[in-house]
Amino acid sequence: MAIELLTEGAYRSYLEPTTEAGVEASHLARVCFSDGEIRRVYVKFYPESNHGLVNEITGHLLAAAIGLPVPQHAAVIFVPKIALPACPAWADTVPGESIPGWCTLDMAAPSLRFLLSQVHDEPLDTSHPLVDELRKTDKLISFMAFDDWIANTDRHLDNLLRLGKHRYLLIDHGQMFGGLTWTAKTLRDTSLRYVNSLRELLAPQTHTPDYRRRLARESCANHGEALIQVSEHLLAACRT
Ligand SMILES: Nc1ncnc2c1ncn2[C@@H]1O[C@H](COP(=O)(O)OP(=O)(O)O)[C@@H](O)[C@H]1O
Ligand SMILES: [Mg+2]
Repeated sequence: MAIELLTEGAYRSYLEPTTEAGVEASHLARVCFSDGEIRRVYVKFYPESNHGLVNEITGHLLAAAIGLPVPQHAAVIFVPKIALPACPAWADTVPGESIPGWCTLDMAAPSLRFLLSQVHDEPLDTSHPLVDELRKTDKLISFMAFDDWIANTDRHLDNLLRLGKHRYLLIDHGQMFGGLTWTAKTLRDTSLRYVNSLRELLAPQTHTPDYRRRLARESCANHGEALIQVSEHLLAACRT
């Protein structure tokens, strides 16, 4: 799966702000992809002062490389400042007429948090049938192993969309590598511990020695090859 790089002309129209948006000022828009199709997408901005955009690109590519479900279309798009009803405050400091945004196809699926009506920071209703469904989903172990691997501390239930019974989709990798402000030093530091939100949420079943072994086996089986594949892709993109 490739990530497209789209210029200002591809941004066709602003639609509306995202209701569940966090600090990164997401909105819905219409965007023309390289195949000529105009699609409804989510667009999200990160300032150059943090690694959010790089994290989104890397997380999306790595997830796709190991066969985890992510939106079918993803791009970095240069959004004309003039097209936005309100620009993020930092946009004034960006030279030129546009700011880069992370753009993914609108999968028209609700987040699990929305479906569970879970209020942030409140304990999860673990007796809810959808939590039971999640626990029994084959891919759950892959989701958790993936987040361990990429040090994603942000797999809250709003970053897991539910497409249908036992069908989920991963979004929002802005906080991988331990967050927006990682450095080469923090990436190399093997003593740092990162919270695996999904695993904590479904504890204690996900904390048993057997579960840990399953996570380790999952990583061994799938992650190495994907990393090689994606590093080549990322390095090629840096050269262009
Ligand atoms: N590609 C997408 N398809 C469907 N819904 C999405 C998509 N991207 C984002 N959303 C919705 O917008 C919300 C906020 O997007 P997200 O990327 O998680 O940004 P934030 O950094 O604000 O958490 C998500 O919880 C989800 O409900
Ligand atoms: Mg999110």
